[in-house]
Amino acid sequence: MKPPPPSAAALPHKLRGHLSGAISFLLVFSLGYILGFLSAPSNSSPLAPLSPTAPTKTAKRIVKAPPPPPPPHDLLRFRTQCADPIPQSEVLKTILERVHDGKSPFDGFPSPETSEHLLPAAARPRGWGSTMPVFRDLIESIRPLTIIELGTFLGASALHMATVAANLSLPAVILCVDDFRGWPGARARFPRDLPRPRHGDALLLHQFMAGVAAAGTAAAGRVIPVPFSTASALAALCEWGVYGDLIEVDAGHDFHSAWADINMAWAVLRPGGVLFGHDYHTAADDHGVRRAVTLFAGVKGVQVRPHGQHWVLSPKPPISY
Ligand SMILES: C[S@@+](CC[C@H](N)C(=O)[O-])C[C@H]1O[C@@H](n2cnc3c(N)ncnc32)[C@H](O)[C@@H]1O
Ligand SMILES: *[C@@H]1O[C@H](CO)[C@@H](O)[C@H](O)[C@H]1NC(C)=O
Repeated sequence: MKPPPPSAAALPHKLRGHLSGAISFLLVFSLGYILGFLSAPSNSSPLAPLSPTAPTKTAKRIVKAPPPPPPPHDLLRFRTQCADPIPQSEVLKTILERVHDGKSPFDGFPSPETSEHLLPAAARPRGWGSTMPVFRDLIESIRPLTIIELGTFLGASALHMATVAANLSLPAVILCVDDFRGWPGARARFPRDLPRPRHGDALLLHQFMAGVAAAGTAAAGRVIPVPFSTASALAALCEWGVYGDLIEVDAGHDFHSAWADINMAWAVLRPGGVLFGHDYHTAADDHGVRRAVTLFAGVKGVQVRPHGQHWVLSPKPPISY
């Protein structure tokens, strides 16, 4: 196994400053370049080479333009300040009111018309590293009351966290953010774990809920689906003042998805809380998750600790920037 990359927090502070400066500069520079290129007047044929420096027939007549101005750097920023936190005791009620019309989504679930299309709930639904020691280690040490999971699928990791919390007599609420579509081709890959899509719906939300309901009423009271994209759900939690003590990132595994999820999740992580996620080592998108985690740790000056297949960031400092 390759050694973990050097942690940015271990770098001298000054170097870190240069590093994040350099990263910002590179991002601004490349975005400016792309924007400038996209908005440049198009006076060449549509099939002209994409590189603006490549010779074209009209090249001689083109006067070299000055470089485009950098875009306002707001374009590259994520929101870091959210609404004041609501009390912990209000989190479950707030989510039920705002997302589920004031009721438990498990009331009367499943309706007969739904249940006939679902598979029998598996005792252990398919997941990926969903019961590894990292979950118990973090829940035991942090004792979180609000857990946010980005990427739930059939609920393997969420149900495991619910059991760990119950074993510790911890009344934790677990908010399961997922669009509950899986990904294109998921059912072809896992035909025995996923129901047949119906009227264009993957039925993953209901299959997940069937697993939670089968785990018992305690789980159904605390493991709550938030069935939206990670970006729209995190923006809403930020606006409502719903913060997590522990946030697991396990949704899109390409760099851009992971980068956006990590940045937006950090904003709704309570100071002292911990952000962690799966697949530090997978090769998807040229190690997109790991690149996003490493870049984020460098920019924020926090440490990354690999833990089995997972990455764990050092707790969020009391004042973040
Ligand atoms: C690897 S699975 C999660 C597995 C789960 N944590 C477990 O261990 O059992 C990834 C999930 O992320 C969800 N997902 C991917 N991109 C998403 C996005 N942008 N918004 C919401 N959900 C997303 C997919 O629907 C899928 O269910
Ligand atoms: C929960 O506690 C039970 C009973 O002690 C034990 O068998 C089980 O392994 C524990 N589960 C987890 C996930 O900690």
